[in-house]
Amino acid sequence: MRVLVLGTGGREHALARALHRDPSVTALHCAPGNPGTAEVAVNHAIDMLNPTGVVELAQRLAVDLVVVGPEAPLVAGVGDALREAGLACFGPDKAAARIEGSKAFAKEIMEAAGVPTARAHVCETLSQAEAALAEFSAPYVVKDDGLAAGKGVVVTNDLGEALKHAEACDRVVIEEYLDGPEVSLFALCDGQDAVPLVPAQDFKRAYDGGAGPNTGGMGAYTPLPWAPPGLVEEVMDTVVRPTVNELRRRETPYVGVLYAGLALTSRGVRVIEFNARFGDPETQVVLDRLATPLGGLLQACALGGLPADLELAWRPGAAVTVVVAAENYPASPAKGDVISGLDAANAVPDAYVLHAGTALNAEGELVSAGGRVLNVVGSGPDVASARAAAYEAASKVELRGSHHRSDIALLD
Ligand code: AMP
Ligand code: GLY
Repeated sequence: MRVLVLGTGGREHALARALHRDPSVTALHCAPGNPGTAEVAVNHAIDMLNPTGVVELAQRLAVDLVVVGPEAPLVAGVGDALREAGLACFGPDKAAARIEGSKAFAKEIMEAAGVPTARAHVCETLSQAEAALAEFSAPYVVKDDGLAAGKGVVVTNDLGEALKHAEACDRVVIEEYLDGPEVSLFALCDGQDAVPLVPAQDFKRAYDGGAGPNTGGMGAYTPLPWAPPGLVEEVMDTVVRPTVNELRRRETPYVGVLYAGLALTSRGVRVIEFNARFGDPETQVVLDRLATPLGGLLQACALGGLPADLELAWRPGAAVTVVVAAENYPASPAKGDVISGLDAANAVPDAYVLHAGTALNAEGELVSAGGRVLNVVGSGPDVASARAAAYEAASKVELRGSHHRSDIALLD
């Protein structure tokens, strides 16, 4: 099977590595990819947001499957264009990707499907926002309706700040605050059936102890030793399958990975958000544990015919990833700084480095090119040993001004 992966981050490097391990994958391409994906695939510098350009590349490379990493190409209609051209795509059409692209649409689907989520109001005027905030009381949760690259959500006790965010956005979703730990669960879907991956936890805030601004994610681990038994089946029954069924009923079948961001509240599991793609950096740890060959799985989703009773195989033990972020991430990350120490990091037993925001400069040196620069992954028989491997490897990385959290996967 010939495969093209779209995207450029640590998630795409993890996808490329997992596909490279699959003996049925005979050719692997990435677009645009990064210096890490170039180690296992051929990179192509195209604009992944241009559906016509993606179709042309996929046809020229004669690929059997296109795997879309980030949400932006999905929302831009890349999945639609590929399927119209008769190409297999892992990733939903534009219509189904609205489950991530519009928070109001996600709420509408959840209501229709009876999926447990925070009570919410969609507000378009300041007076509507005022009324909704009064109804829910603090802490206030105000979400920009559209895609906002992780910056659209404000959670605050300050009513003034909540109103200011509502005013700054055209349309917001204001909802009740959900307490309790967060879990990310990914399900592979073929439009009709869905198979869960193992749950993971992400660390969204920039600094230790959950301080600082929200980020795309500063680290992740799997499995979750504290998760209640039966959690995955419960989420499949109450969240994933009803959502997949509702989208199919609306004739916008969901093909790709449905990412359920969940809160385990004192009143039960609630959906915080859906994403139409693999989570980043959770994917890096989930795929580290996956033993079933990935290419065949994603192709079964894209073509239909995913066996509903499919049992995936997992390597025992745990994986932890620590994000090495650029100076001033997330506000205004520094770029172009030389990265060194990767050979030493990769030499740490049970650890390796994924490239997220890296590039080669004119001199051929590896430099930072994004906010989240590297994802250092460690594995081991349990979370503590995986964590130790990840941090030992992270300590070998040299990048001026970089920072990483020191409490990723630190369990009580
Ligand atoms: P989202 O973009 O919807 O994932 O929100 C980003 C982050 O904001 C989530 O990971 C949560 O930490 C937080 N958040 C979002 N919605 C809520 C909510 N209703 N209650 C508490 N925290 C929330
Ligand atoms: N790690 C959070 C996300 O991918 O949205």
